[in-house]
Amino acid sequence: MNRFRRLRKSKAIRDLVRETRLSKDDLVQPFFVIEGKKKKETIAAMPGIYRYSTDLLLKEIEKLTKSGGKAGLFFGLPKFKDSQASAAYAENGVVQKAVRAIKKHFPEFVVITDVCLCAYMDHGHCGVVRDGRIDNDATLPILGKTAVSHAEAGADIVAPSDMMDFRVKQIREDLDKNNLPDTLILSYAVKYASAFYGPFREAAHSAPSFGDRKTYQMDPANSREALKEAKQDIAEGADMVMVKPALAYLDIISLLKTNVDVPVVAYNVSGEYSMIKAAAQKKWINEKDVVLETLTAIKRAGANVIISYHAKEVLEWLK
Ligand code: PBG
Repeated sequence: MNRFRRLRKSKAIRDLVRETRLSKDDLVQPFFVIEGKKKKETIAAMPGIYRYSTDLLLKEIEKLTKSGGKAGLFFGLPKFKDSQASAAYAENGVVQKAVRAIKKHFPEFVVITDVCLCAYMDHGHCGVVRDGRIDNDATLPILGKTAVSHAEAGADIVAPSDMMDFRVKQIREDLDKNNLPDTLILSYAVKYASAFYGPFREAAHSAPSFGDRKTYQMDPANSREALKEAKQDIAEGADMVMVKPALAYLDIISLLKTNVDVPVVAYNVSGEYSMIKAAAQKKWINEKDVVLETLTAIKRAGANVIISYHAKEVLEWLK
């Protein structure tokens, strides 16, 4: 009979046989960008995360790269919102300006931009609203233009998070037409209509003013749909696919890992971050241990890349 404890008998042996290791190379830090100078705004539900103007954002990226960080995901809070999300694809939009500055100072840093319209629409939905409904096909050209504007500013990867059907195809075609064949697409292919996005909507001022996102984001009760979404996005040209949120969806990460042949990215979202922060502030849990266990579990489930608000702290811990 096997004595299982032999493999656990010392730290050195445990280290030797460990299957999953978090690495600095796995982590992506999300950032919120605002207009202006010397601005750093707190986000009540996300302690440790701020909205930065570009000048201060560059300082944050410098810190991140010094601790081994290699990639960031960028969200913009625009000067104005309207019914066509026109600030989303403006050449001098908040994200476009930030991306140009980042690429100028940190050419090697991997810049991923979130392509969505919710923060740019006056109604807070991810697509064009017609007669109270989200019009899929009317939204596609706006998403295409937005992705092109990000790529022209220097984004390495564009990440559509809107959940309109056929947006990956539209974006790939528009990028190629605009001579941007090397820009990658990371599709938020498997994005659930999750209550874990609450703190993000405070951070990005992107809560819908009516209804919810359940007609475009997926039902948390479904898993087989995840494969359909991912496979279609890959067929349309996605270079990587995302599962979001991560922690309550480890089965979905695992499902994708065994069934698709592109990198699988997991988004450890705002609500997952806030829950840990809140419990840690009350000293109910050991923050560092819980964070490392959580991210290791996400990787063990099959994620190649993890987007997490904890990334900057984890990079320090992994030093
Ligand atoms: C935009 C978008 C959202 C998130 C990423 N992109 C919010 C939403 O769909 O309402 C959530 C990220 C997080 O919670 O950290 N559509």
